Amino acid sequence: MTDARATDGLPRVYLMCPPEHFAVEYAINPWMHPELPVDPELALKQWDGLRQTLLGLGHQVHLLPARPGLPDMVYAANGAFSVDGTVYGARFTHPQRAPEAAAHSDFYRQLGWRYVRPTETNEGEGDFAYLPVAYGGTILAGYGFRTDPDAHRRVQETLSRPVVSLRLVDPYFYHLDTALTVLDDENVAYYPDAFSAGSQRVLRQLFPDALLADRADALAFGLNLVSDGRNVVLNSGATALADRLAAAGYRPHLVELGELHKGGGSVKCCVAELRG
Ligand code: ARG
Repeated sequence: MTDARATDGLPRVYLMCPPEHFAVEYAINPWMHPELPVDPELALKQWDGLRQTLLGLGHQVHLLPARPGLPDMVYAANGAFSVDGTVYGARFTHPQRAPEAAAHSDFYRQLGWRYVRPTETNEGEGDFAYLPVAYGGTILAGYGFRTDPDAHRRVQETLSRPVVSLRLVDPYFYHLDTALTVLDDENVAYYPDAFSAGSQRVLRQLFPDALLADRADALAFGLNLVSDGRNVVLNSGATALADRLAAAGYRPHLVELGELHKGGGSVKCCVAELRG
């Protein structure tokens, strides 16, 4: 499906937040069941397995200190979206997560990056994905559950890249990063039925060679993966998708994140990419 590119497998810079205060205390997506138990120690151990996997692949992982009272803060992908050292900050849909945005903005300001404070509701890399090659950089943006389409327009103005708006229609796939993933500079994989009919047609036109995942792959959080263009880190339950990725020339690395699935997220949700 894909030819090797010079950037494939190169070290990347990520941000993660340890699940020190992780819990399922409220339900803001269909995966969350506050009445079911969560094992906090196991969550931390699984999260660390993901961190070690990324480090072992040669990537850098910054840590965002966890803050008490913010049980979803482990899903660091939702805190911002950055391209070329400019950061478009998050503004969370649900009040329970709203204070997380400040923790992320503090982090980027300390790094010295340009931080753009959003006035539009958006959940960072949960709903924004970046393809560096097509048209000098293209941003795919999800809406329908969390991010306001006004944020898509603001991102286009702020980050000076074309933004393609895609409508999500299935509540189980409430963020773009649960239904679509960027595998390398120009290839994606996605689960078509997570999108409206019109958005499916747009995806087919833009990515005629995309790897199409099925509902079982998507429900196993298989698309919620982190790829450096060569190595693909994904949830251990998504073995069928892992096999297909391997057949397409990628190297899958499976990680177990069962506790964090109880909050409605997996690998990608826990990892924000810092594009400097
Ligand atoms: N419980 C969190 C929420 O509903 C999970 C976020 C998952 N993050 C992601 N990037 N999909 O907001």
